[in-house]
Amino acid sequence: MEKIGVLLVSYGSRAASIADALCRSDNYDVRIYDADKQRNPFILKRSADYIVSLDPSDIVNFAKKHKNEIDFGIVGPEAPIIAGVRDLVEKETGIPMICPTKEFALEGSKVAQRKLLEKCYPKANPRFKIFDPEEYSNKNEVKKDLWKWLDEMDNQVAVKPDNPTAGKGVGVWGDHFSSREELYAFFLANFEHGKVIVEEKIDGEEFSLQFFSDGKHLVETPCVRDYKRAFDGDRGPNTGGMGCYKDVSHKLPFMYESDWEEGLKIGRRIFEELKGDGSNLGLRGIPLYMAYTCAKEGVKVFEINSRPGDPEIMNLMPILEDDFVDTCFNIIEGNLANLRFKSLATVITYAVPMTYGGYRKKYSGDRKVDLTDAYKLMEKYNGALRVYPGSMELRDDGNSYLLGSRTVGCVGIGRSIEEARDISLEAIQSIDGPLWNRWDIGSKEHIASSIEHVKSLRK
Ligand code: GLY
Repeated sequence: MEKIGVLLVSYGSRAASIADALCRSDNYDVRIYDADKQRNPFILKRSADYIVSLDPSDIVNFAKKHKNEIDFGIVGPEAPIIAGVRDLVEKETGIPMICPTKEFALEGSKVAQRKLLEKCYPKANPRFKIFDPEEYSNKNEVKKDLWKWLDEMDNQVAVKPDNPTAGKGVGVWGDHFSSREELYAFFLANFEHGKVIVEEKIDGEEFSLQFFSDGKHLVETPCVRDYKRAFDGDRGPNTGGMGCYKDVSHKLPFMYESDWEEGLKIGRRIFEELKGDGSNLGLRGIPLYMAYTCAKEGVKVFEINSRPGDPEIMNLMPILEDDFVDTCFNIIEGNLANLRFKSLATVITYAVPMTYGGYRKKYSGDRKVDLTDAYKLMEKYNGALRVYPGSMELRDDGNSYLLGSRTVGCVGIGRSIEEARDISLEAIQSIDGPLWNRWDIGSKEHIASSIEHVKSLRK
């Protein structure tokens, strides 16, 4: 078998699922060179060498060290993409990277996303107003404008900083504030750092649609439903995502066929706008991870990212029928015609630390996590279960310890969402460690309430 080397820029379970897809190749003997947030036990086991750093200059030095062994690189997390890791590695080493260039890291500016959509598919934008600190000389002026806008919106808004990492993040009326003064305090904490968008709060059910590209073609993948809230019944604070489900077909049970078609159309329009005539290699990788809402009047764009979703990509990698290394070569060579996925459902449940999402205020006990029984279950299920460690660190004593973020993602695969969910939850229950999880990811009740919600909005 041909030997190939892959530079994997990793953060968490998402990268473990990519490493797994690469190493399951039937056509290539893959060696991974891992640049990681921590010593991830799963990825380390499959790596020829690693560094613990996501700093683009460290990644460049690591890539230079292994220049002769690495055929291409692939990037999971957004921070290095926004910092221009692809531009730097390609310039300094010539190693082709699978991720967009800095110019096309769309999550860097929520204002730019809204403006882009206004240009190519305005119907999918909620009503929005941009508040730019440069346009105001004092706080009274901005407050007056904000109040006027809140009158128009009947207070039903979401407040979003332009830069996703600046200020207090996204706040929603009814969830994060319930009076104008509370909203104003939240708004100002963001406004101190730059532009803020105040947009219509959209009622509906969310779905994600991820697209791969070689810079010329845009190839869609099946839709996935993410669970952003910490607790069962979609209560509690927003998190990075507590789990996800995917149905056997390309769409989800609460979506109409027209939602799928419109989701595709929006993604394609944006891609055409960014690409221009011919091809644009800056868009290589997953240039569009579209977070949509099935709303009363069709599909609205909630946000756009230029990287694989975490956990959403884990719903897809285990059921990709194509050899993923061949897919990567097709992306690099401009030959990505399509992607084939098995007609199976997948459900991911994330096990997370005690303090994640505010489940406990404090946890001062042991942090050891043992996945031995979960791995044994993988053998029992023979391909229908994947267990992907995330925010976990392998230490010199040979044990793994949880860190601060989502610890381990368990992906159940089945002929129905129900079957996949049962496998995912059995794996979750077999983990030995101080972790907790949501129990309603992909549950019948949750799906039924999503179906009812969309129906009632559209009747
Ligand atoms: N699951 C949400 C995200 O990847 O952005």
